[in-house]
Amino acid sequence: MCGIVGAIADRDVVPVLIEGLKRLEYRGYDSSGIAVLHDAGQPDIRRVRRTGRVSEMATAAAAEGFDSVLGIGHTRWATHGGVTEANAHPHISDGVALVHNGIIENHEEQREKLRALGYAFESQTDTEVIAHLMHHHLKGGDSLLGALQRTVKELTGAYALAVISRAEPEHFVCARMGCPLLVGLGEGENFVASDVSAIVSSTRRVIFLEEGDTADVRRDGVQVYGHDDAPVQRDVHLSDVSLASLELGPYRHYMQKEIHEQPRALGDTIEAAIDAGGFPAELFGKDAEAVLSGIEGIQILACGTSYYAGLTARYWIESIAGLPCSVEIASEYRYRAAHANPKHLIVTISQSGETLDTMEALKYAKSLGHTHTLSICNVPESAIPRASELVCYTRAGAEIGVASTKAFTTQLAALFQLTVVLGKLHGHVDAAQEADYLEQLRFLPGSVQHALNMEPQIAAWAERFARKSSALFLGRGLHYPIALEGALKLKEITYIHAEAYPAGELKHGPLALVDEDMPVVVIAPNDSLLEKVKSNMQEVRARGGELFVFTDQDSNFNESEGVHVIRTPRHAGVLSPVVHTIPVQLLAYHTALARGTDVDKPRNLAKSVTVE
Ligand code: F6R
Repeated sequence: MCGIVGAIADRDVVPVLIEGLKRLEYRGYDSSGIAVLHDAGQPDIRRVRRTGRVSEMATAAAAEGFDSVLGIGHTRWATHGGVTEANAHPHISDGVALVHNGIIENHEEQREKLRALGYAFESQTDTEVIAHLMHHHLKGGDSLLGALQRTVKELTGAYALAVISRAEPEHFVCARMGCPLLVGLGEGENFVASDVSAIVSSTRRVIFLEEGDTADVRRDGVQVYGHDDAPVQRDVHLSDVSLASLELGPYRHYMQKEIHEQPRALGDTIEAAIDAGGFPAELFGKDAEAVLSGIEGIQILACGTSYYAGLTARYWIESIAGLPCSVEIASEYRYRAAHANPKHLIVTISQSGETLDTMEALKYAKSLGHTHTLSICNVPESAIPRASELVCYTRAGAEIGVASTKAFTTQLAALFQLTVVLGKLHGHVDAAQEADYLEQLRFLPGSVQHALNMEPQIAAWAERFARKSSALFLGRGLHYPIALEGALKLKEITYIHAEAYPAGELKHGPLALVDEDMPVVVIAPNDSLLEKVKSNMQEVRARGGELFVFTDQDSNFNESEGVHVIRTPRHAGVLSPVVHTIPVQLLAYHTALARGTDVDKPRNLAKSVTVE
């Protein structure tokens, strides 16, 4: 949450900052701002901030004629302090300006200390204390870098920081602890950003700063310092993020683009297994065989949509791999006196790889004695995979829409591969079954493409959903997590209240909600639970509820009064949850279109949740 960008060059960096912030808007879009060095004989700092979208701030910067060779920028997701211009970053303390991502936990204590030193506060943010601390140390004689290194030692909490000072116009400095930050290396120009998408038009050569690092960024070079302030060498990576992959292309929204990219994303995520002609343990790294063959159970930790991927995987892991599997919301696990079994593998699932709750749950699991950890993640080099023993990268590509779509289905594909690997290593999957699972996986991108072709029918349903204020989603077994995901997508982007239940649970309470105004979406594929689901649907019809049913081509199920049916392709076997995700994504997307909400940037949310 919150995006940072900074640049120093021989050219005007304002367009670089604005473009970078637009690309980082998914991280927060409450307000934004830039601060640049203004040098008309006497160096000074100019700043523009606006609530609302980056484009509004960019218009103001253009109107005020901003132009500079050095600057920093920020897009905010409010935590401390409301959405106001005064709380927007950059924050300035007499000649020093900074942008911050993260939360400073000891800000109140620092604020008191600074007040006693005569500092006045203009905002309600935790960040302003950092600006004043920097100023205080600069006044005491520190260099900009020295002041930053001294300041961060006085902070507890999480931060990514970039700082400029009018007293040292030839460089900027930055620091990282608990929030992502990378330095981009150009030709005679250098950058800093929360992620590579922000600077990809300028460079793809990046250094990922490590926890506790600070860096001095100049036009002609970058020096990184470790947590002990000694110079360190960090590897330079060539990012494979391309500009084209970040463009909207012919689509109206990133969410629509990302829904339609799923056949490709799934194809890429399963490519290694298809090429290997099976499920070798190496799909999860070179040490995977030793680790995975020794474990006796799985504990999955994740949040939101990624948690639902975990819930789906539990059915696979228990039934196919024959191992016990628990799944828990990361923010709950981390505060529970969980009973650790070091023979259980901790599996974290995270699109961004930087969700704070998931990261902290992983750290907590380790502190309880878990030594074996696996991260399923979509963002290379992000914090959670770096803290894990084994890593499997989904190959969804950059996901920009705040509502997760292709990340979810590729997580499912990765978790299915993990299941079969575990099943083989633990003697529950023989060669014939392995070949069969590979065949099912091979068909998956095609089945998902067929499901996408149902878009016009689903869009027609969406027109009716758009007028509703609540909806229920039902599923059973493997498809209950897909009902949960459908309800989450609908509420997230349409603001319609939606809840999901295992269909058998309806009669234990939620049936009381059902009347003619309550649409009930049912995920009812042609599996062993279909007859049970049909009985649950009768319970709804008998109370006047209107049913919207997603079933398969081959299920014996027809439309009738109050029962609308859309058929996905032929039943996809154990991979059916992946295929049945597509219609619920499309239903949410088209309902949001019909309601005119901001699909890619729903209110109050941000993509990457790096706060508690
Ligand atoms: C919902 C959504 C969120 C994320 C959750 C975890 O559409 O995107 O629920 O799934 O915040 O994020 P990651 O997977 O990045 O850890």
